[in-house]
Amino acid sequence: MKILFFGDIVGRLGLEAVASLLPKLAQKYEADFIIANGENVSRGKGITERDYLDLIDAGVDCVTLGNHWNSKKQIEDYIEDADRLIRPLNLLSFDKGVGSAVFDCDGVSIRVTNLLGTAFMKEDVRVPYIALREVLDHEEKADIHIVDYHAESTSEKQLFGHFFDGQVSAVIGTHTHVQTNDARIFPKGTGFLSDAGMCGADDSIIGFNVEGAIEKMIYGKDNKLSLDEDAKPVVCFVWMEFDDETGACHFIRPVQYIGGNEFYGEASI
Ligand SMILES: [Fe+2]
Ligand SMILES: [Fe+2]
Repeated sequence: MKILFFGDIVGRLGLEAVASLLPKLAQKYEADFIIANGENVSRGKGITERDYLDLIDAGVDCVTLGNHWNSKKQIEDYIEDADRLIRPLNLLSFDKGVGSAVFDCDGVSIRVTNLLGTAFMKEDVRVPYIALREVLDHEEKADIHIVDYHAESTSEKQLFGHFFDGQVSAVIGTHTHVQTNDARIFPKGTGFLSDAGMCGADDSIIGFNVEGAIEKMIYGKDNKLSLDEDAKPVVCFVWMEFDDETGACHFIRPVQYIGGNEFYGEASI
């Protein structure tokens, strides 16, 4: 089973960049299943029903979320009907929708789980280790299980990945919007990457306009962070392959496309 996992999609620019590249990427990487984190897709925070449906129309099989899961309040009205939308499993005060679900992909079952981490995060959540433990102990077992661990701290993500080594197929970090270069397959077969990165404006501050961010953060101006919808886009994703029988990860590599060109972690002028 080959799976592509796209990092946080930021704004229309990110959505359209993913939508335009996806047919080519799905063919090139022979992808069977596509996961994308959509927590920033609607103007940088949250996800409207329209943008969720546009991601599904673009070919995404499952959309995960994060701390901005309800920044667009309308999600509370449509999430029960959005059967390909996974909100954080360990929310304390919201029980609509699901935080973990199983999808059928040509006879292979794929579970996708979304969790919020705790270090440097403001949300009140249940302990993520316990939340995932309960899924593993009490919910339907799937052939492959991908966990989107949405958290700020790389060490927290590494710890979580190691703790569940051999019990899930992959732990992929999201939230920082910066793709890391630490892809691993742990000893018992769990694939791991600290952060999948972002799909949005390449020359930006985690997707937002640089000048606006400087004015706000350095000069203390009371402006909102804005998006450059005509910027050159970066599309960051994780390319993974799994054994359909054991669920073990056989291959994992972070990939970036900048302005449509493939890129593996080098910089040049
Ligand atoms: Fe986030
Ligand atoms: Fe994000």
